[in-house]
Parts: sequence; structure tokens; C-alpha cells
Amino acid sequence: MPWDKLANADVAFTFGDVILLPGKTEVEPSEVDLSTHIGEMGLHVPILSSPMDTVTEENMAIAIARMGGLGVIHRNCTVDEQVRMVKAVKRAESFIIRDVITVSPTDSVEKAKSILREMNISGLPVVVDGKLKGIITRRDVYFAENGSLKVEDVMTKDVITVSSGITPQDARKIISEYKIEKLPVVDKKGYLVGLITAKDVFYRESHPFATRDNKGRLRVAAAISPFDLERAKALEPYVDLLVTDIAHFHNENVIAATKRITNEVDVPLVVGNIGTYEAAEEVITRLDIAGLRVGIASGSICTTGEVTGVAAPTLYAVAKVSEAVAKYGSSAAVIADGGVRGPAEASKSFTAGADAVMLGFALAGTKESPGSPLIVGGKMYKVYRGMGSPSARSRRFVLDRYSKPSKDIAEGIEGLVPYRGDVATVIEKFVAGLKAAFGYVGAANITEIKIKAKMALVSPIGTREIAPHDVKPMDRLPHD
Ligand code: XMP
Repeated sequence: MPWDKLANADVAFTFGDVILLPGKTEVEPSEVDLSTHIGEMGLHVPILSSPMDTVTEENMAIAIARMGGLGVIHRNCTVDEQVRMVKAVKRAESFIIRDVITVSPTDSVEKAKSILREMNISGLPVVVDGKLKGIITRRDVYFAENGSLKVEDVMTKDVITVSSGITPQDARKIISEYKIEKLPVVDKKGYLVGLITAKDVFYRESHPFATRDNKGRLRVAAAISPFDLERAKALEPYVDLLVTDIAHFHNENVIAATKRITNEVDVPLVVGNIGTYEAAEEVITRLDIAGLRVGIASGSICTTGEVTGVAAPTLYAVAKVSEAVAKYGSSAAVIADGGVRGPAEASKSFTAGADAVMLGFALAGTKESPGSPLIVGGKMYKVYRGMGSPSARSRRFVLDRYSKPSKDIAEGIEGLVPYRGDVATVIEKFVAGLKAAFGYVGAANITEIKIKAKMALVSPIGTREIAPHDVKPMDRLPHD
């Protein structure tokens, strides 16, 4: 009955409606453990970057994996381009590089020089029929001014090598002792089987909590359309996680298409977006999934709620979905997606049942997001746009994010966000804020905050009191 719908209307709490109450604590913020899981994959930092074309390409994915989170490469591009970006993350760091780029002794120094420049690397092993004969570095080619020189004329022939069984600790010792940048790995017969670089060894040390696979490479996720089996298959050999990127996952056609992907592609899958108990119930009982992207229309660039009147605000959606996940004993991770501007919204998400948060706005202004900063009125900004904005849709690869009748309706905006410097600093601040929140509510980790933290409603008037008020801040960027 129409009146019953109003009389029994659900309460769609949003982040701004609630606060967390302080609780007795036995943990100091520095002791808080923020680690989480998505399927089998462990993350030290429970943050994923949104698969948006102004947020996550390879630079973002590399930076965020180094900080202990996970980047989800967007799909607003050709399959080849997306595969290239995923491979670039995989190549960015690994203990032993297996697909080594090499030259032959009779190649010209000019050729070696251009490979070094184009691939942005500092040295190349020199091989004949796979056997290591030497190594040529930037330093060698830098001083080779005579254009007719060959690689064998300038390469180092007396190369220090190691075998495949070497440990990272031993590789580090050799690299430091001999002050070398490249350490070729050879088999017993002298065939080149890999390469260890000083850069990778030192990165490992300075980022011990980075998200890495069992070969020491950074982990990376990629977005797909549930209807694009071909894209999923092209990504399958390289990617650690696939994430469906569709505005309304609770749709029979979408679920049926996703079933084909889970049957044919052997990569853990996160699906979404969903926003209700019923959607979660259906998805976790029908699909074998690693996680759920949760929240509809809370994103900073979303106009879905405004245009259609339909929304499942992220806090509400996370609480509802988490109830279904608990009831069915599902291991699917709940990922709060949309409207998480900083640690405040993230800690509320965890309290409502989330295992991780997905960030668009909060990362869009960083150095590692695609595009260069713009200067407007003396201040630096970066462009951030919704995947349903007219300009993102004009690239056409994301049109199936939305249902057929709404393909021509903009469901997102394009705008500017303040430039914030590098991702590492943004994530460090975010993590510090989260740890402080966990300290206030007395939770040592994400499991505990779900159980211990309590929420309270605040009135719209009261909201003003719990933010700086009456005093004009000297220089405050939004959410800094
Ligand atoms: P934030 O608030 O972090 O939100 O900027 C990012 C999330 O918003 C979703 N997204 C959209 N939602 N129209 C929408 O309704 C859009 O154009 C759009 N683009 C992205 C997406 O879930 C993302 O992670």
C-alpha cells in the first residue's frame, strides 16, 4: 500500500548522519593493525583505488601497492591498453625479473642506447643464443661517442652472476659489496634465466608492507564489464583480481553474464556495485566471489541519486550487505565504495561492516593519477570525472556501465580537485587518521572495530559543531 511505503520507510543513513562514540581503549594508535583480506589476497592497508580513468592507471596502481593497498586499473580503454598497464605494474618491481630485455654483442651501441632510453632501464645483459656474455649499462653508452661502436666494444665482460636459488638478503649483500646495479641470474651452463636489480632490492626494503605476489611482484587488479568475457580472458594471465564495473549489479542479465566469467576465468572476482541486503543475498548465493563493491550514488562525482531519485548511500549499503554476508557465512570482502573522503568515512564504513574502502576523490588529486596538474587562479588542481560523465562516456568503452535506456543520460560530473602531491603522503595521512579513530573507539583491528565501535546520530545542526566552527581557518584545503 502506498501509505505503508512511507510509514515503514527505511532509514538510509549516510556518513554525515552519524558519528562514532569513543570507547575504552587498550591500544595505542601506533599498535593498530589495519590489515585485511580480499579473497586470499592480504593487504596491509585496506584501501583500493577506484577504476576510473582520472584515478587509476599504472602509476597509481604501482604507488598504492607499494603503500600496502591495491590499484584497480580502469577499463575506459582498449583491451590491449589495459593489459599493457597491468603488465607495467607487474614489471615495476620483482625480486627476479624473468622476461629480461637483452642485446647481442654485435648490436650497435646506438641500438642499446635507444632501448635503454625507451624502456627507461639502466642496463642490458648481453647474450649470444641465450648465454650471458656481458652487460652494458647507461654509464657505458654515455661515454661511447663514436657512432660505429658495437656493444662488445664497451660492455663489461667480467660479470658477477648468481643462481636462481639466491635469497633477497644475499642478493643485497652482493649488490652492496660490489656496488653494482644489475645482478644477472644464470643457470649452471651460463644461460641467462633472470635479472635482479639494485632498485628492486632496495624498494623491497623500503616498502616491506607492499602488496606483492609470491614472485615478489606488485599486485594489481583490473576492472571489467560483466559482459566482456574477452577482456577478462586477456587479463587473466597477468592480473591478481578482477573487479566488475557496473552501476547496478543486481540485474538478472548482469548476474548471468558474470556467471560465465566465473566459470571460464580463473582469477578471483569482486562484483558490484550493489546496495541492498537482497542484492547481497542473491549474489553471494549464486556466484563464487572474493568481494563486493558496495554503495550506489554516494560518489563525489555521482549524479545518479539526483537524476533518478535512486540511491543506496554507502554507509547504509555497507551495513545491509554486511548483514547478508554474516547471515550466509560468506567470506566475500565488503568494499565500501563512494563518498569515502578520508579516515572519518572509512572508520564509519569499517564499523558498519566493511573490510576495505575504495577511493576515487581522495586519490584523484595526487601526482600519480592520470593527467597533469592545472593551475587555476594560482592554485594547482587535477581533473576528476565520473565514469558516467559525458566526457568519460565519449570514449565509449564504459557505456555498458549503465543500463540501455540510460546510456544517454549523464550520471556523473567532471570537475577539478585540489592537487595533493604524491600518493604515499596521502595514504600515510589517511592511515594515521584511521589509526587514531581505532584508538578512540578502542579497536585493535578491523574485526574489532566491527564489534566494538558504536554509532550515534547527529542532527544537521549538530554536524556543524563537530567540525571547526566560528574560527576562519588560515589555509585549509578540503579534507586536508
Ligand atoms: P568517490 O566519492 O570516492 O567515489 O569519488 C568513487 C566511486 O564513485 C562511483 N562512480 C560513479 N557513480 N556516476 C556514479 O553514479 C559516475 O559517473 C561514477 N563514476 C564513478 C564508483 O563506484 C567509484 O569507485
